[in-house]
Amino acid sequence: MVGYAFMGAAHSQAWRTVNRVYDLPARARMAMICGRDAGKVAGAADRLGWDAYTTDWRALVASDEIDVVDICTPGDSHAEIALAALAAGKHVLCEKPLANTVAEARAMTAAAATARAAGVRSMCGFNYRRVPAVTMMRQLVADGRLGVIRHVRAAYLQDWIVDPQFPLVWRLQRDRAGSGALGDIGAHIIDLTQYVTGQRITGVSAVTETFVKERPLPAGSSGLAATANGSVDGGGPPTGPVTVDDAAVFVARLDEGSLATYEASRFATGRKNALRVEINGSLGTVAFDLERLNELEFYDATRPTAEQGFTRILVTEGEHPYMSAWWPPGHIIGYEHSFTHQMRDFVEAVATGADPTPSFADALQVQLVLDAVTRSAELGSQWTEVEPALAALAV
Ligand SMILES: NC(=O)c1ccc[n+]([C@@H]2O[C@H](COP(=O)([O-])OP(=O)(O)OC[C@H]3O[C@@H](n4cnc5c(N)ncnc54)[C@H](O)[C@@H]3O)[C@@H](O)[C@H]2O)c1
Repeated sequence: MVGYAFMGAAHSQAWRTVNRVYDLPARARMAMICGRDAGKVAGAADRLGWDAYTTDWRALVASDEIDVVDICTPGDSHAEIALAALAAGKHVLCEKPLANTVAEARAMTAAAATARAAGVRSMCGFNYRRVPAVTMMRQLVADGRLGVIRHVRAAYLQDWIVDPQFPLVWRLQRDRAGSGALGDIGAHIIDLTQYVTGQRITGVSAVTETFVKERPLPAGSSGLAATANGSVDGGGPPTGPVTVDDAAVFVARLDEGSLATYEASRFATGRKNALRVEINGSLGTVAFDLERLNELEFYDATRPTAEQGFTRILVTEGEHPYMSAWWPPGHIIGYEHSFTHQMRDFVEAVATGADPTPSFADALQVQLVLDAVTRSAELGSQWTEVEPALAALAV
């Protein structure tokens, strides 16, 4: 694993757990973790349960001890690490968004296709697909229980940078993160809704905004000071420009005729991690809220009119996706379980020679949507078609 902070910890917990919860064809061994600071990565290896550590991801990629590379770094290093790992014959799990640019995502997808011919697998970490209620939404759509999908309504709302004094961390710098709320949390709802509906976004009209354009540099961040136009304002701490969107809102068309709305914001005061999706079809509706992730709301319009209404399904039965390995019905699960489910599916695919999903090609398609949203916003919300992912593969 490369990176040991937020996702590093979440993935480590999943790697520690997955062998013990699920009966897998191969056991995952936590061989080596990488970070840039020797002291900190040593502590992380100990705390998170890794056998060894290194400060050079190239050493990790080159190691004969390692079969799988799990990339948990900011987007500016995804492509370089993934390309090297695939070339070295390592299976790759890469956090979302796949890359910072379409060009990088194309190169990664092409490399994944080449590596696949040699039996090397790759997957992108859109973990919310593996929340049992989300997987169940997809099954309901696939089984025709919603009929023809007319509307997709998705929002992913957070509020962690409402304070203008919140520092200019890497997530607020385009060269490190690619984009802001759009690529960070908007990417999740793009992937999730396409996964659930089985439809692709074909075109968008978007607005984006950066509400706070200048922020204090984080304390002791020499690398940041070099990239931001550090300035001293009235004797206060040095500041730098925010170079990503704080919020992105767009309407979209899906390829089977649905209309969709998307909202991704880090300025939704009071909303901490509110991922909400509602899908309306000719025969029914499903609604999901990550803050109540064990539940799914289902409206079945085929029931007798007098009995129609939203049903709250508690998605904790053994027959629900992923749930048979956990607790008795009603004993709920949480955020971290989606990562354990992700590792289960990834290990199973690698061990049995199957292709895990979402593939790099799937993640490239999400990247193309992000790109279309950015271009539309720059062109005053002009309607912008999403470039087909297949054409990108030929590059
Ligand atoms: N799936 C999800 O729900 C989810 C949630 C949060 C973040 N993410 C994604 O995970 C990735 C990491 O985000 P995070 O929140 O964990 O960030 P973070 O800032 O918490 O951690 C980043 C880690 O990467 C390390 N790092 C940075 N550059 C490195 C390099 N060149 N070599 C080695 N280590 C390096 C840092 O030291 C740190 O340990 C991003 O792509 C982000 O979009 C996904």
